[in-house]
Amino acid sequence: MAYLQPDEPEKVYVPALRAAKEKGKKLVCLTAYDYPTARIVDEAGVEIILVGDSIGNVIHGYGNTIPVTLEEILSALKAVKRGASRALLVADMPYGSYHVSIEETLHNALRLMKDGGAEAVKLEGGRNRVELVKRLIDAEIPVMAHIGLTPQSVHKLGGYRVQGKTKEAAQKLIEEAKMLEEAGAFSIVLELVPTEIAKIITKELKISTVGIGAGASCDIQVLVLHDLVGMTFGRQPRFVRQYANIREVMSEAVTKWMEDVKGGNYPSEKESYMLPEETKAALKGR
Ligand code: KIV
Repeated sequence: MAYLQPDEPEKVYVPALRAAKEKGKKLVCLTAYDYPTARIVDEAGVEIILVGDSIGNVIHGYGNTIPVTLEEILSALKAVKRGASRALLVADMPYGSYHVSIEETLHNALRLMKDGGAEAVKLEGGRNRVELVKRLIDAEIPVMAHIGLTPQSVHKLGGYRVQGKTKEAAQKLIEEAKMLEEAGAFSIVLELVPTEIAKIITKELKISTVGIGAGASCDIQVLVLHDLVGMTFGRQPRFVRQYANIREVMSEAVTKWMEDVKGGNYPSEKESYMLPEETKAALKGR
């Protein structure tokens, strides 16, 4: 049997993350939920693409990530897969898809890998996920863990606040990060965590930390693409740096087009299709 090598030579695999951490090389991760944004992000050279359950806020307008379904992640994942050939592709496990039983979790994660083309899955939680992480790794499914602010626990946490501020909470975060590493996770998202705690975790873990609102010492930085390019509504958290205002660009384009249509300036002759001369002649007078 020949080992086919269909991937491009630059393709990012899980072991590349450890190698980058050892060399002190920073990596980046962005979300994508569709083919065009996946292509843009992949072609720009981002190392990891996350089909995040932030799709619930950004694309579906749910207001939080709780209603997101496995089918919604799968559908987005398939589109992203078609647009991304280089980046490591990570799929979020939505709320409810890993909360019922280990068997159901495995079944759902396998669907993301087999049907959706994910190369790893991400799930939220600390010590309560250790067994799950082990079982997923046993099934050859690489796992990105996620601690700190875990948006799927919004109702339990009572809002989106910085986590790990007390000595006990900070200690718990550090311990849980170590437990998840021990369980086999290949990386761990630290969301809304004080910089000092993220620094300790990054230093004490061999696996990569993926920071969002967790300061500059994390091995990898992750952001929601739509926040980065200004395609969201409402107040942004402090950690978001907006590099473009795509919402304004789109709004201006739509307004100009409307004005052109209503003022008789669109479409022009060049933007229309004309009949061949003989057909035109045959229809003369009409
Ligand atoms: O769903 C998501 O986009 C995430 C990142 C913000 C880490 O979980």
